[in-house]
This record gives sequence, C-alpha cells and structure tokens, in this order.
Amino acid sequence: MPAIDDVSGRATPVLMQGICQTFGQTQVLKSLSLEVSAGETVALLGPSGCGKTTLLRLVAGLARPTGGRILIGNTTVVDAEGGAFVPPEGRKIGMVFQDYALWPHMSVARNVAFPLEMRGIGKSERESRVVEALELVGLAGLGDRAPGTLSGGQQQRVALARAIVARPPVILFDEPLSNLDRELRESLVVDIAALLRRLGMTALYVTHDHGEAFAIADRVAILRQGDLLQVAAPEDLVSRPATVDVASFLKLGVILDGQVEDGALVLGSQRRLRPPQGFLNGDRSGQLFLPRSALTAAAPQDGVLAAVARHSAFRGDGYSVQLELEEGSFLDLHSPQRVAQGEQVGLSVAWDRARWFPQVLL
Ligand SMILES: Nc1ncnc2c1ncn2[C@@H]1O[C@H](COP(=O)(O)OP(=O)(O)OP(=O)(O)O)[C@@H](O)[C@H]1O
Ligand SMILES: [Mg+2]
Repeated sequence: MPAIDDVSGRATPVLMQGICQTFGQTQVLKSLSLEVSAGETVALLGPSGCGKTTLLRLVAGLARPTGGRILIGNTTVVDAEGGAFVPPEGRKIGMVFQDYALWPHMSVARNVAFPLEMRGIGKSERESRVVEALELVGLAGLGDRAPGTLSGGQQQRVALARAIVARPPVILFDEPLSNLDRELRESLVVDIAALLRRLGMTALYVTHDHGEAFAIADRVAILRQGDLLQVAAPEDLVSRPATVDVASFLKLGVILDGQVEDGALVLGSQRRLRPPQGFLNGDRSGQLFLPRSALTAAAPQDGVLAAVARHSAFRGDGYSVQLELEEGSFLDLHSPQRVAQGEQVGLSVAWDRARWFPQVLL
C-alpha cells in the first residue's frame, strides 16, 4: 500500500520569481516576486481584479505565466524561459475555493476521499484518513451525508478536509470564506489558522478582507494592480505602512495633504502644527498619515487638530463617531460618549505613531 505523504518535518517553501502574466494587451501581474517560507501562511490581500486568483492559478499549475518562474521546494514547477512545467497533479498542492466545488451526488466521505483515490490509495487506509480529516475540521460523523444537506460553513469544512486529506505540503485558498456570514467567517478563519499551524503546511491565502488576512497570516502581501506594495507581518503593516497607498488601502486612519513652512506643518484649514524635531525630514510638501491609534478625542480647545462630528453610532461598548478633519477627510473614532452631529471635537496627536510621507520627486 503506498504511504501517504506526511507533511511533518518536511514543510516546503514556495518561491515566485519575476512572475508576469499578460492577457492580450493587459499586464495583470508585473514581475511579481514573493517567497512563502516552509510552514508559513502568507495572505495575499488586494481589491477585486488586482490579480490574486491569477497568481494562485499559476502556483497551482492551472495556467502558465508569460514570464518568471515558480519553485515548490527545490523543484522548478514552471519557468517561462526554460520551458519547465509540472502539471497540477504533480505539484502536491491542496486547494480550497470560494464556491466549495463539492460533488453533490457523492457523500461527504467520498468527496473527501477523492484525492486519495486519485493517488491509488487502498480502501481501508482511505477510510481511516477520511475519518481523521473530518475530525480535524470538526465534522466527525458526517461522512455519510450529502453535501447539499450541510450548511455553507459545514460545506466549506468538507472542502477543507478534502484539501488536507492527502497532507499536501502546500495549500492554496481562494477567498474560501467570502460566501459565509461574518460571524462564521471569523470563527472559521481562526480554525483554519490553527489547523495550518498544527499540520505545518505552507499556505497562500487569497482574500480581500483585511480582518481575515490579519487573523490568519504570518505575513500579508498587499497586491494592487499586479504589483506588490508591501509584504510584512500584520503588526508591522499597521504600525509601519510603507507608503500612503498601503495606509489608505488598509483604512488605518486618516491621510491629510500638508505643506512644510519654516519647520511648521500646514494642513488645510488646521492651525499650524509643530511636530517634534526630525519628524518632517525636510521641507518638501507631502502627506501626513495619522493612524487611529495616534489620535485621542479632546475638548476643542485642548486638541492639536480640529474636527467636526458627522455621525455617531452606538456600538455596545461606546460610540463609533465619524469625524471630518478636512473637507472629504473622514475618520471613525471610538468614543465612550455620544457626540452630537455637528459638534466640534479636538484631537490630540501621538506623534511617535504618526508618519510623514514627503512627496516623491520624480
Ligand atoms: N483568462 C483570462 N483572460 C483575460 N483576462 C483575464 C483572464 N483571467 C483574469 N483576467 C483578468 O485579469 C485581472 C485579474 O483577475 P483575477 O481573477 O486575478 O482578479 P482577483 O484579484 O482574483 O479579483 P477578485 O477579488 O474579484 O476575485 C482581471 O482584470 C481579469 O479580468
Ligand atoms: Mg479572485
């Protein structure tokens, strides 16, 4: 009986080098390079149409890149220059998609067993592996059910069991939770993260949901229009976004245009600010990024910045208040009290958390 690959002790890195993908005139991926270390989970986060699925399909072998190469472990699975190409079934990859992709006419157990059947694994070993996989995803005892009789969350767990049953060293997820409601997403993402760590799999997890990416990933790669803007641990992305685009995409706070005049910062209608020495690093105009964590609501006369409350919503543990700092520059801030619409609010600034992005000179 052939032994089933066990991932433990031989987790496999995935390396994408200079990946280009062009459809007709459109360049969807622009020389993208990314390494997912052995046993690491990287979330690929980006808006609709930025190229996330395209990249996953290239790693899975469902399409070929127009440029670059991909290594899984030490094996070059595709090289646009050299012509190497390992087909999907030779790549030992598990996949979980948004739409579950279960076969409705087969029982849950047969769905899960399918990758083992494909590998010619015998019946008794298959059965014990399926039971184990269903247990791992929290579906023990449901093997005889038809997929259509399960809830959406349960069906996605079946798809997860099918993806891990053969213990592939690498697993790819394409927005696996986006058909589920928020509460279910939040609990399932934690379960998937725990399972990946337990099995030591290398994972690339596509999502357009920041919360999901932050919950599951060791590192998050932010993709926009075929380019990686930043790849970093969630904590580092939040505290040190590399560019204004990253801060803006992650909706981490507010971004204000500013000029530097005699060492002071001039922001629209705000009073002149005097940030600490060295903060502005030069006299170029630029953009001030103020993460929510850098701002505290204060009485209007005590604040460094002035804002107007536009909207206040009760959130159980206080209020979420929408503030307008400059025309069109909004920020949601937590407040223990309700703030009336139109009320003036002062904001104090923790400069050590704020960032100044001087205009880039071309
Ligand atoms: N086979 C194809 N032929 C032509 N264009 C394609 C093809 N596949 C993808 N595209 C285009 O490439 C771009 C990126 O598509 P992709 O599916 O990778 O986006 P995505 O980031 O996964 O978006 P979403 O979050 O909506 O799933 C889109 O503009 C899409 O129309
Ligand atoms: Mg997609």
